[in-house]
Amino acid sequence: MKLDPELSVEENDQVYRPAEDSYLLLRALDLGEATSFLEIGTGTGLIALHAVRWAQTVATDISPFATALARGNAQKNDAALDVVRADLFHGLRGAFDAIAFNPPYLPLRPRGGWLDRAWSGGQGGDEVVLRFLRDVPPFLAEGGAIYVLLSSRNREALRTVRTDFRSQEVGRESLFFDEIRVYRLRPA
Ligand SMILES: C[S@@+](CC[C@H](N)C(=O)[O-])C[C@H]1O[C@@H](n2cnc3c(N)ncnc32)[C@H](O)[C@@H]1O
Repeated sequence: MKLDPELSVEENDQVYRPAEDSYLLLRALDLGEATSFLEIGTGTGLIALHAVRWAQTVATDISPFATALARGNAQKNDAALDVVRADLFHGLRGAFDAIAFNPPYLPLRPRGGWLDRAWSGGQGGDEVVLRFLRDVPPFLAEGGAIYVLLSSRNREALRTVRTDFRSQEVGRESLFFDEIRVYRLRPA
């Protein structure tokens, strides 16, 4: 999907500000014929607000600040975005044609604040995304696709993506500290 500069997306100090990884995932996302879309960890709602024009969209985040901001951004843009506060898939029902996650991926222990949970992925940086990869299959509709962003440091998640799914790299960018890639996954 292409970035729409006309969308009005507010940011604040308590929520992850869209950055290179957000835009890489947005560009890699191809909703094609998808009629339903789930974004895990929506932050400001930037990606979900693009997707909602193509497909019925649910956006989740574990942070109450993020869900409040994403709801406000949906209202501002008159978008019928369903925003839910949840730890990954907890409490969600149904299956989606496409699911996307730009997870916390840095190898840092979360120190407590909600914003910290936006980038601290625990040991190896992949504790949250490994839970995501373990729990995602039942939420994917037949023929659907998962889009997940990983850092080159997320060794275990990279192994899981290659062994447990059919994976295709659909985006890549070098940052000053590592390389990030977006994978499109389908069940093996
Ligand atoms: C790297 S930020 C990405 C935000 C937004 N999607 C973007 O690309 O700009 C990761 C987001 O995931 C959320 N998050 C972290 N752990 C989560 C979990 N267990 N369940 C749901 N969301 C989570 C964070 O609060 C944060 O908003």
